[in-house]
Amino acid sequence: MKKKNSFLKSYKKLRILVTGTTGFKGAWLAFWLNSLGARVTGIALKPEKDSILFKSLNLISKIDQHFIDINNFTKVNQLIKKTKPDIVFHLAAQSIVSNSFSLPLETFKTNIMGSANVLEAYRINRVPYLVYISSDKCYLNFNKEKNFKESDSLGGLDNYSSSKASAEMIFSSYFNNYFKKKKFLTVASARAGNVIGGGDMKKNRIIPDIVKALNDKKKILLLRDPKATRPWQHVLECINGYLLLGHNLLNKNLNINTIPNWNFGPKNTNCSSVENISRTFIKSWGKNKLKLNKSKTKKFYESKYLSLNINKAKKELNWAPRLNLEDTINLTVSWYKNFFNGNKNMELYTKKQIDYFLDNHS
Ligand SMILES: NC(=O)c1ccc[n+]([C@@H]2O[C@H](COP(=O)([O-])OP(=O)(O)OC[C@H]3O[C@@H](n4cnc5c(N)ncnc54)[C@H](O)[C@@H]3O)[C@@H](O)[C@H]2O)c1
Repeated sequence: MKKKNSFLKSYKKLRILVTGTTGFKGAWLAFWLNSLGARVTGIALKPEKDSILFKSLNLISKIDQHFIDINNFTKVNQLIKKTKPDIVFHLAAQSIVSNSFSLPLETFKTNIMGSANVLEAYRINRVPYLVYISSDKCYLNFNKEKNFKESDSLGGLDNYSSSKASAEMIFSSYFNNYFKKKKFLTVASARAGNVIGGGDMKKNRIIPDIVKALNDKKKILLLRDPKATRPWQHVLECINGYLLLGHNLLNKNLNINTIPNWNFGPKNTNCSSVENISRTFIKSWGKNKLKLNKSKTKKFYESKYLSLNINKAKKELNWAPRLNLEDTINLTVSWYKNFFNGNKNMELYTKKQIDYFLDNHS
């Protein structure tokens, strides 16, 4: 198993720019990179009121954090010019599906033009490598029960999906116009499934909503769409994929003719309904009286079925998901319980979860 993790050594002392460091995935990625000895610069908006991860991981003292809006090209460009990163991981986004209905312009601006700003600053400053984080929602989804593969059509029937599909199209345009001239891939986009894990407190995401309801000792939680099926994965699964992808770019392992997009989904058995994941999470939490009900009001459109084909990452990167649904949920529950029960050293606890993940076989 040690051999499977040895690629992580390539990040030691590298200068790495991560966008979205105050968010759920960006904080885990910045923390993991910092623990590997990388020099991380972060771009993000200030942590939101309810947010716990950025603070509990003490990222402000671990990384060189800049509170910059990615819609401000001049600032993003100046920072990239000054810090000269070896590789960029772009994760900043308006990532909440419900917000994309109430705030369409902000969603389109940040997810599309903000991402274009990062791509342009990356290009003109000749940064060597880029991992561009996208989503399973970028695929054109007519709710047929299919596993999307990387060559499937992009598109969106709702604001969030279309913003993600558009961001991918801009990536594709930059790739074809500017980055396709080398013999090997230097940029890649990564599409993950529905991610859960400790520390996410974003409103209108199922696990944070359950955690808040449990903490507030609520008796009922309404589910938007209990039967919707999603590919649930632990945050460490997709971040491990992003790091492995970055390593393969850094080592010039990927031929330029490879499609530069990669799905990082969970094991097939982790595809499950919102209702099932919610019930399993609540059971794993232990003693509580929280019951689930279906919400009677449907405020916006969401796809019913979403699943990813991960054969490409398995074959070409030798990546594979490591955790089953039970482990995924237990790790998540344990992180929140440690935090809310007053564990004073969440940095150490988070590092232990990373070590547990690394010891896990695929
Ligand atoms: N969480 C999931 O289940 C999931 C699944 C698939 C893909 N993704 C994608 O992964 C990426 C990270 O997701 P997350 O769950 O960590 O999201 P998050 O909402 O928890 O964090 C978003 C981050 O982006 C930053 N951000 C937002 N707007 C910004 C702006 N205008 N300028 C600078 N920074 C800005 C926020 O400050 C925050 O740091 C996103 O691109 C998201 O679409 C997430």
